[in-house]
Amino acid sequence: MRTQAALYDAIDLELSWSEQELPERERTKHVHRLHPYLGKFVPQLVEVFLKRYAKPGQLVWDPFAGSGTTLVEANAFGARAAGCDVSAFNCLLMRAKTGAYESSDLLADVVRLSEGGSAKARIPKSPYLRAWFAPRSLTELVSFRSRIDGTAYPELWKVVLSRAARSARLARHDDLDFPAEPVAAEYFCHKHRRVCRPVGEADKFLRRYVRDAVQRVQEFADVRSREQVSVIHADARLHDPPGPVDLVLTSPPYPGLIDYHEQHAYAYELLGLERRDAEEIGRGVKGYCEDLAAVFSRARRSLRRGGKIVIVVNDRRGLYDGILASAGLRLEERLVRHVNRRTGRRKGEFYEEVLIATP
Ligand SMILES: C[S@@+](CC[C@H](N)C(=O)[O-])C[C@H]1O[C@@H](n2cnc3c(N)ncnc32)[C@H](O)[C@@H]1O
Repeated sequence: MRTQAALYDAIDLELSWSEQELPERERTKHVHRLHPYLGKFVPQLVEVFLKRYAKPGQLVWDPFAGSGTTLVEANAFGARAAGCDVSAFNCLLMRAKTGAYESSDLLADVVRLSEGGSAKARIPKSPYLRAWFAPRSLTELVSFRSRIDGTAYPELWKVVLSRAARSARLARHDDLDFPAEPVAAEYFCHKHRRVCRPVGEADKFLRRYVRDAVQRVQEFADVRSREQVSVIHADARLHDPPGPVDLVLTSPPYPGLIDYHEQHAYAYELLGLERRDAEEIGRGVKGYCEDLAAVFSRARRSLRRGGKIVIVVNDRRGLYDGILASAGLRLEERLVRHVNRRTGRRKGEFYEEVLIATP
């Protein structure tokens, strides 16, 4: 592991942007802000490595594709993109982000969704949903869900439904990432610095996010290429990319940091998605290095001659030298970037490493 001084010496300024150089609206441009997702990398970082190591038409593979940052940027760059994730919700989100949309069909869907729900939409019995939503919010969400059937773009509207559900949960505004328990009464909110009330409706979020989603997919349509994007719902330890790969660009889960299923628990409940928690890597330290080595040895075997493996990670436990060696990879470069965190509970200095590996 590096000392703090060595860390400062190694900072790669081309990869370390200030808020002024890279404002939030750029980091969250078009589909990148279709739905909140904790633990994604900034699209501009992906852009840098696509330009350094890929060419249009080549295949870019992300075995831990998450919210699809690599896939979206690789497509805009003109490369073929394939990504795998064990989380069904993440795969849904990636498909919604990378889909092709016709304006006339989007409009027809919006009209259909705004036509008022079937009054008979049944309120689910799920104890989770009943605990986390006010009765009116749950009725509105379920009613919207019943209108998604028969739309041209069900995946996009499911993502909108999930985003609205996230905002309408009985969660504190200052604790939306992993709220511990539902809030029943007024509370002092550290985010808004005032007393806030639990949310009692969902329709206002649904309307806002339908509009926002349409705008975002239309903005992405301006830069989207016709290159193929494949989203694979699988365990990356057991799944190969769909062909020889030119560049692997990924950020793996890290032990004990984020529970990727749990952060979207409301979406799994509301959309009836299958949870595969047991296959999620990083839930503990045990077995982590072997799991990562298995994924990266698959990546190595699929790599074309001259191809690179780029891994973005905060390797605070110094695990990656061993992981790469076990996967039969050689570390060419270890770059350090300063991550700009502006506000909130996660503020403070934070560094991330970019490992460039080859067979
Ligand atoms: C750090 S996140 C990737 C974020 C991504 N770079 C982005 O910008 O959205 C790691 C991802 O690995 C996924 N993951 C965990 N275990 C996995 C497994 N066994 N196979 C495939 N994906 C897995 C998690 O669901 C999570 O989405």
